Amino acid sequence: MTRHFLRDDDLSPGEQAEVLDLAAQVKKDRFGRRPLEGPRSVAVLFDKPSTRTRLSFATGIAELGGNPLVMDAGTSQLGRGETIADTARVLERQVSAIVWRTAGQERIEEMAAGTTVPVVNALTDVFHPCQVLADLQTVQEEKGGLAGVTLAYLGDGANNMAHSYLLGCATAGMHVRVGAPASQPPDPAIVDRAKAIAAATGGSVTVTADAAGAAAGADVLATDTWVSMGQGGKDTALYEPYSVTEDLLALADPEAIVLHCLPAYRGKEIHASVLDGPRSRVWDEAENRLHAQKALLVWLLERAR
Ligand code: CP
Ligand code: NVA
Repeated sequence: MTRHFLRDDDLSPGEQAEVLDLAAQVKKDRFGRRPLEGPRSVAVLFDKPSTRTRLSFATGIAELGGNPLVMDAGTSQLGRGETIADTARVLERQVSAIVWRTAGQERIEEMAAGTTVPVVNALTDVFHPCQVLADLQTVQEEKGGLAGVTLAYLGDGANNMAHSYLLGCATAGMHVRVGAPASQPPDPAIVDRAKAIAAATGGSVTVTADAAGAAAGADVLATDTWVSMGQGGKDTALYEPYSVTEDLLALADPEAIVLHCLPAYRGKEIHASVLDGPRSRVWDEAENRLHAQKALLVWLLERAR
């Protein structure tokens, strides 16, 4: 049965742990494994801008011995109205996997439904699961494990990173807190799903409008832009209490680390002294995109039909 990675809970707790263990091995043995030798090609498609995702998939596929075919929607027929179903049928005849950054979650689900090769979500409006895999790898490196670790995400509760932290951290048995304006909460269906996962893994889920309460004693503080791609013209004043400042960081555990998926807007969702300061692990986090995604691709391709 072909497996896809469209949302964080597409991996069970045991499977997520397997992928993260593999990511640690892949990082240690960076150029040692070339399972895509042949080479097998992987399509990496972008309907939205990207630096890290494009770089890490292209680099990772090449390091695995494969051939990355990176395409922008604007230069493909998908951008001119060719259907997702037709695109899926054409791609599967030539590539071993499809990685796609697009807007609607239903679009990537349609791609997965229309193809026999693994499909990987490289960010939608709803989820950014590859980013959270890399974030979990970073937390594991810093904290020695994931179960029982508290991660507080502050900022826009209604975006892809908030949703992926909810599902990904709950799957890992972590305590995940979302501190966001009451008018910008995460999708209630995703919160409920995260709570159900956490009930089985020993984690917990908290959604609050109290930024200080969310940050108090946390092992990890995470944030993201207040204005996600495709959300121009937003009033950002309501997010200001959730900005990750030195004062907010002082409320967290003294050994807390700070994550941001990047790109960052200093002075908005995070202050420069925090992003560039001693608790920040954002550059490790950005590097871990490479290792986590290589591990994910190897894991998915081993299970492909
Ligand atoms: N964090 C992340 O996905 O960055 P890009 O948008 O640059 O790919
Ligand atoms: N929430 C951000 C993440 C960017 C990597 C966005 O969707 O633009």
